[in-house]
Amino acid sequence: MPLTNDVVSKIRPVDSFIDQDVLRRFPALARYGRDLGDTPLINVPGPKGGARLFAKCEWDNPSGSVKDRTAFAMVHDLLAQLPGDDLSGHKVLEYSGGNLAIALSLLCQGLGLENTLVFGSYVPDESVKKMRVQGSDAVIIDKDLGFWEVVQHAVRLSDANPDWHFLHQHENDANLRMHEMGTGAEIVTDLAALGLTADSWVASIGTGGTLIGVQRALAAANPALQTFATTPAELPYGTEAPANGLPKFDGSGGLGCGRKQPFVAPEESRITGHVTLGFEETMAAMRLFRELTGEWIGSSAAANWLAASRMASDQDADRVTVMVFPSKPSAGEIEKASAYSLDEVKKLTGLKELV
Ligand SMILES: Cc1ncc(COP(=O)(O)O)c(C=O)c1O
Repeated sequence: MPLTNDVVSKIRPVDSFIDQDVLRRFPALARYGRDLGDTPLINVPGPKGGARLFAKCEWDNPSGSVKDRTAFAMVHDLLAQLPGDDLSGHKVLEYSGGNLAIALSLLCQGLGLENTLVFGSYVPDESVKKMRVQGSDAVIIDKDLGFWEVVQHAVRLSDANPDWHFLHQHENDANLRMHEMGTGAEIVTDLAALGLTADSWVASIGTGGTLIGVQRALAAANPALQTFATTPAELPYGTEAPANGLPKFDGSGGLGCGRKQPFVAPEESRITGHVTLGFEETMAAMRLFRELTGEWIGSSAAANWLAASRMASDQDADRVTVMVFPSKPSAGEIEKASAYSLDEVKKLTGLKELV
């Protein structure tokens, strides 16, 4: 495909850090970029008389989640360091909560780039099958060992195979930069078109790339921005408790044993509050959102929506809260959320009088 500016037009806010030469050398990356970002910012229900709520819907990306941005940015930076356009003999290594692996598998298939992806046994079988069909080497770790063990397994593989390209999403600056210059810049632009800026920002912490990257962009537009981080009550941010295999809302969570995500720890003074949400509450919030809008959202989207909705009732109606909806739910999440009755949902979420 010939490369023109059109090819990257959908990711206009990030153009400034995209190397056009890399896109020319790797058309499959350019094609992925063409379908990336510029995702819808939508109005979502919130408490009557409270702050206005907006959600950035990240399922509108090539493999269906916010992690498409991270995959694109980290692979872009890797390819920028390689000479020529021949990827034979090169191999990418990465660990994932699930969605980054799904994104990398698709992107690497397009590029013809070998890849080993390490993740926990919580990833649905159909996703694993698809990744393997796309040519990925999938390494599955017992989910009861916790996410930290998934990361450590990848670190050991990297130590044993120093010629593999280990992307290491928790420490890869491309992750953060993509969210500042992409996701965050898009939100600023879309709100500005409505004559608005964000007063509050709500996102979960996986790596914290979304939370901190977008925070930078929104705070540049409104220095009084308040930032709220969500993590699962079963393993909150920075907890001293060890990892556990309890069900949690998707894609996010503590690392256990007092460990803190490297993007978040130095920025703690910029975080107004940490909100923890239990698995059952987030399932109930998924069910309630579906009841109100007809749409299923993923459990980490539901966690952000529930946290934002609870806070919005104490905020004036002219305030603007923005949250991220990272993905649609898996079939398993929908099945679990569907099992809650509306009475249980009301009790668990504590939300009433939503408009
Ligand atoms: C569904 C979902 N929500 C939230 C996150 C957290 O994103 P980040 O790593 O940018 O903190 C992820 C990351 O994998 C995810 O898959």
